[in-house]
Amino acid sequence: MKSVVLVALSLSALVAQPSPKGQNLAPYVSSPQEIIDVMLESAGVRPGEMVYDLGCGDGRIVVTAVKKFSAKAVGVELNPTLARTASDMIYRLGIQNHASIIRGDLLDVDISQADVVTLYLLTSSNEKLRPKLEKSLKPGARVVSHDYAVRGWKPVRVEELEVHGRNHKIYVYVVKPAK
Ligand SMILES: C[S@@+](CC[C@H](N)C(=O)[O-])C[C@H]1O[C@@H](n2cnc3c(N)ncnc32)[C@H](O)[C@@H]1O
Repeated sequence: MKSVVLVALSLSALVAQPSPKGQNLAPYVSSPQEIIDVMLESAGVRPGEMVYDLGCGDGRIVVTAVKKFSAKAVGVELNPTLARTASDMIYRLGIQNHASIIRGDLLDVDISQADVVTLYLLTSSNEKLRPKLEKSLKPGARVVSHDYAVRGWKPVRVEELEVHGRNHKIYVYVVKPAK
């Protein structure tokens, strides 16, 4: 009887896991690996730098930043299942000293330590995020956005490439010192 109650309790904990509060700012679509490589290269990610992927999905940008660029990385993800997948991947690869996942709303997370922020959201979401980026990021930090521009900012670089028959754009921005 005791074990039945325990199983029931743990099942209900799984099912009733509370979703973090926050607005869904983009559907889940992964950036192809080729695009991720170019995003991080275009941002000039250096060893030891801190990369934040806001809306990290399954964590592939976080993993690439650590494994290919020797950076540290944090992923922020609203969807609990995706956040768990990303976190599991980090532990499976044994990179937990360099990478972590925050399950929550990207608009609530402290990003002041970021050297590079990666985005694959929507133009309207970037618009919501822009004041936070302007307030929080240090001068010289880079913001790289897959497919969706940050309106009102001038990119230092725009890459256009075709992957698996689809055209992609990568916008690279550098945060200027405050006037
Ligand atoms: C287009 S996917 C990008 C995934 C990954 N960055 C990539 O490029 O492969 C956008 C992700 O943002 C997440 N997301 C949407 N709104 C969010 C929010 N308010 N806070 C954190 N994550 C959010 C979605 O769940 C989704 O996984």
